[in-house]
Amino acid sequence: MALESQGSGRDGWSSRSAFILAAIGSAVGLGNLWRFPAEAGANGGGAFVVFYILCVVLIGLPVLLSETLIGRHGQSSAPESARRLARESGASRHWSILASLGVFSAFMIVSFYCVVGGWVLHYIWVFISDLFQTGLTGGAFQGRDPAEIEAIWPSLAGNGALTVGLDFAFLAITLFFVARGVSSGIEIMAVWLMPAFFILLIAITIYGSFGGAFSETVDYLFTFEPEKLTGPVMLAAVGQAFFSLSLGVSGMITYGGYVGRNVNLAGTSVIIASADTFVALVAGLCIFPIVFAAGLGANAGPALMFQTLPHAFQSMPLGSVIGILFFVMVGVAALTSSVALLEVPTSWLMEKTGLRRVPAACTIAFGAMILGALSALSTNQLADFYPLNFIPLFEGQGVFDVLDGLTSKIFMPVAAILTTIFVGWVADRRLIDSETGLSGGLQVIWRFLVCWLCPLALLAILAVGIFPDSIG
Ligand code: PHE
Repeated sequence: MALESQGSGRDGWSSRSAFILAAIGSAVGLGNLWRFPAEAGANGGGAFVVFYILCVVLIGLPVLLSETLIGRHGQSSAPESARRLARESGASRHWSILASLGVFSAFMIVSFYCVVGGWVLHYIWVFISDLFQTGLTGGAFQGRDPAEIEAIWPSLAGNGALTVGLDFAFLAITLFFVARGVSSGIEIMAVWLMPAFFILLIAITIYGSFGGAFSETVDYLFTFEPEKLTGPVMLAAVGQAFFSLSLGVSGMITYGGYVGRNVNLAGTSVIIASADTFVALVAGLCIFPIVFAAGLGANAGPALMFQTLPHAFQSMPLGSVIGILFFVMVGVAALTSSVALLEVPTSWLMEKTGLRRVPAACTIAFGAMILGALSALSTNQLADFYPLNFIPLFEGQGVFDVLDGLTSKIFMPVAAILTTIFVGWVADRRLIDSETGLSGGLQVIWRFLVCWLCPLALLAILAVGIFPDSIG
């Protein structure tokens, strides 16, 4: 079709809107629905949120445009696209390392991301069975003690066979879509599921705003108290913006590789970043009113979604139905992200070895199964296994936390720093300018952000990620 990767015979998005929906699908995920409210709650609300938005605009957006333009220019897997741009710019082909690092990160992230996806599947089932037991009216878990509801989470996390089984199930669903290809798998999934996701999100938020503590939430999320904006809060916000926009893992380079020449990348980057930020904010406006109305605290961290929220559904009319819809919505968002994560190493392996899509995707998924099983077991059987205990940064951390920390604190920032240096300083300026579609003042601002602000700000995150004791 018109916008496919022209002439190469390579699979690609069938339209500009298909690309936008798939990229939004990649960006919107557990990072928005699970991590953002948890981080905002744990980092003082408004100060975090305001700084987060600033980070999206000043750092996220320029890096997002840099990644998509590398992909679109190269029309290949992420490392090959970077190599091509380097070659045409007369630079060393070793710059492709920025993308190879991302491919490796995407592989590690998909392995533990599917573990969380598996937890979400479990909660869908918990609410479905509750609906059968307690019926349509009234709250969820009627007649059950709050302690019993909160115990659902530790009993899941403590069950090795269950967490591994659910991880494999979620990975299998992810594999199904990746194996079908870009235009007939990933795109079709995004085009159907993303609108459904938005409808669910808005409906649940409006519902929560009637019964829930909405004005308390708005105060909480948007009252900017400058004294709360400490170093660690700023860093948490930058890291979150990064993870949420799917940057530093070659995801947007890979998806950019399926975009046609006639798409304006600057414009689409703004749409993708705005949609992602909108969802993160609405997720806050969706979750906190329910939590506050039940008289619960906002600062439960990762347990907010899996422990606090199910408890809050108890006092909500139609609680079990809302519980099902809520976790289906989270599952949909997680799936469109895990598909993007699996596609990155799959497209690399196909190009590297000449394997066809199905065997390549299965090979990567098999590796992710093994690594994912170790992550899934890190909340139970392997709870005392600390693989990188000898490195202070990872002391006392299980496989799940080590993979999360290695990628978000080291690999993703390094890949993004290299990306901005490459695009801002190394690559041929005319090639870059012809890809961005920017001109005049916007181009000058973009250049300043990519050349200076982004690499310096990212270097600061990396430093604090590695030496956390040096701040705050
Ligand atoms: N951005 C996704 C989220 O918010 C996670 C992700 C990271 C997906 C990197 C793809 C690539 O959950």
